[in-house]
Amino acid sequence: MNNLRHLISPLDLSLKEIDKILSLAATIKENPKSYSKKCEGLKLATLFYEPSTRTRLSFETAMLNLGGSIIGFSDAANSSVSKGETVSDTMRIINCFADICAIRHNKEGAALVAASKATIPVINAGDGGHQHPTQTLTDLNTIRSLKGRLSGLKIGFCGDLKFGRTVHSLIHALVRYPDNEFVLISPDELRVPAYIRDDVLIHSGVKFTEVQRLEDSLSDLDILYMTRVQKERFFNEEEYIRLKDRYILDKEKMKLAGPEMLILHPLPRVNEIATEVDDDPRAVYFKQVEYGVYARMALILFLLGKEDTSC
Ligand code: NCD
Repeated sequence: MNNLRHLISPLDLSLKEIDKILSLAATIKENPKSYSKKCEGLKLATLFYEPSTRTRLSFETAMLNLGGSIIGFSDAANSSVSKGETVSDTMRIINCFADICAIRHNKEGAALVAASKATIPVINAGDGGHQHPTQTLTDLNTIRSLKGRLSGLKIGFCGDLKFGRTVHSLIHALVRYPDNEFVLISPDELRVPAYIRDDVLIHSGVKFTEVQRLEDSLSDLDILYMTRVQKERFFNEEEYIRLKDRYILDKEKMKLAGPEMLILHPLPRVNEIATEVDDDPRAVYFKQVEYGVYARMALILFLLGKEDTSC
């Protein structure tokens, strides 16, 4: 394929390209039927070496909505990985079977390794505690659709900012828009890694603060991005147990937030948002899932070079 493109990190897309993808996602949402045959005869492979509900099914739904087909595995134990096959070799096989692929792996950098052997577009659907660029497109699509802008926002990230790959990718993306400000709310043990604090936040010169108390930050946020403590990335279970319920957003705390503040969460939720908050109009984490399907439909079309073709 000419002009082969992959999506491994949000930085693989220029702001203009992100805008194009999000605009396409909005157009698809308005008129999904006219996109229902765009990928006829094409296959998406989903290679999921790590558990997933939303991301894999969202990719598969996106491709089916475009009229394409899907192949893949949702559990590495059912693939030749259990026999010792490397990601590189698996990718060489998938090149022969599919037109585009999405890969999730517990090792940081696995998607990049796959891309180095790929002759089809590779999408990183999460690599360890590193990046998750399609969750970022989902989050940007949600914010842009519901707030009408991606700049001039005060965004609070709360929870596991150390291992939360969705946080790393979204910060990477949002620092590129003007006048955004960040409040990073976490226990000391789960602060953002140095490569995000130094190389992204400090390097880009954005305004940010690191705090421990959620209550003190709620009153002037435009977005609150809640995250789960990433149990599977902890070396020590006791530490996980000690930290897992540190932040619980409930109705009482929501009284401290402004009427326009949106609550996002990449899901799955564990305890960090009480279910009593779900009916609050500011809670948009289930809507976010729907925005994710449109964002992935647009991304698939973009990577396959089909975003400009007429219906
Ligand atoms: C996130 C992930 O896998 O990083 N989930 C998702 O893709 N929607 C967040 C998480 O698992 O906590």
